[in-house]
Amino acid sequence: MHDESVDPVEPVEPVEDRASGYDIFDPAFAAHPLAVLGDLRERGSVARSEHWGGSWLPLRYTDVFAIAHDPVRYSSTDVYVVPVPLPHDELGRRKRSILFTDPPLHAEERRLILPFFAPPKIEDFAASTRDLCNRLIDGFIDDGVVDASTRYAKQIPPRIIAAILGVDAERADEFASWVDASLDLSNPPRRAEHRQIILDFFRDEIARRADQPGTDLISWLLRQEIDGQPFAMHLLEENLMLMLAAGVDTTWGAIGFALWHLASHPEDVAALKAEPALLDTAVEELLRASSPVTMARIVQENTEMAGCLLQRGDRVLLSFMAANHDPSVFDQPERIDLRRTPNRHIAFGTGIHRCAGSNLARMELRVALSTWIERIPSFRLAEPEDVTWSNGQVRVLKRLALAIG
Ligand code: HEM
Repeated sequence: MHDESVDPVEPVEPVEDRASGYDIFDPAFAAHPLAVLGDLRERGSVARSEHWGGSWLPLRYTDVFAIAHDPVRYSSTDVYVVPVPLPHDELGRRKRSILFTDPPLHAEERRLILPFFAPPKIEDFAASTRDLCNRLIDGFIDDGVVDASTRYAKQIPPRIIAAILGVDAERADEFASWVDASLDLSNPPRRAEHRQIILDFFRDEIARRADQPGTDLISWLLRQEIDGQPFAMHLLEENLMLMLAAGVDTTWGAIGFALWHLASHPEDVAALKAEPALLDTAVEELLRASSPVTMARIVQENTEMAGCLLQRGDRVLLSFMAANHDPSVFDQPERIDLRRTPNRHIAFGTGIHRCAGSNLARMELRVALSTWIERIPSFRLAEPEDVTWSNGQVRVLKRLALAIG
């Protein structure tokens, strides 16, 4: 992977001194990421691990920000946090969505998707999201104890994205489990099997729209052109998969985290109830605190970053959680302060790949939390020791037993 033709920059510190051996799939990292990141931060501003093919982990906001804004030196051609085989189509062409695309192609394709996620479009879905949240709550409000992760947080994102894509929302449970499995980077066969299931699903949906175009995102993308050519099918399929994958686990993770925090902070619930206008800064703070997404970049030329020699082909992890807990940018970063302002968090990333669905995610969080608090003002962790987090590309609370009422 290393390009010998480029002169290496002398490292300020030998790599081995920084080798901390973090493992993003370690259950301890998943359960206590701030403790792990805090420990790494004490040892330096960049951590290095040889696990999973090796990677760098910058811990400072300023470095994460700079990397995300430098697509020439840090490419998005592979954004998985560990090496996995990247997909090709039957003709051997590299399949990729905008998430895996560098300039200049990236902007052309992203431009086609953004109108569907603009604030006015998203506000059209707020009322149906509220109805959905109310229906979900009706289903468990009398149960005493509920797994709010699987019966609430996990239920919302796939149904809303299904409406945007114009696919059957009744299959939302299937979508959520496909996405979950397709992002399981620790289990390649499971991941590949579920990627194929999603692909076959979208191939059927595309075929149906040839006869019956609608007003949904799939029909819209089928009509779009780049340089006078239709959106190539191998790219269209990947972008549709991205719409499903990008919006489900991420928002599930953020809603679950917010409920987990509120369950042990009744004073925050009371403040939100007394002062509904607090919701906007609260959502931002909960996004900062949860920062569920970690992405990767591939180094394009030997370079120095925060005193470390990075070589062409190296993988750099962008932990938005690490950036959003940098004490030089956020006062008392481990404290969740629903009134925090300013709050320049980058939970949605930053730079050209900044989350295309951020308006949608914010709306879902706002509605999910306000509806919950209105209907269930009193709740607490039923089994504080028995909450289960996953980690990797997206950190999700898999199980959250709440005692309600
Ligand atoms: C709380 C929920 C969410 C979080 C924390 C989140 C986070 C992120 C982050 C960090 C990125 C940047 C990736 C990078 O720099 O490589 C991203 C990209 C993206 N997100 Fe989200 N996301 C969320 C919800 C959504 C939703 C609901 C959608 C809807 C489909 C969505 C669609 C996308 C897309 C399409 C991209 C790729 C943008 C590009 O490459 O230009 N996300 N997201």
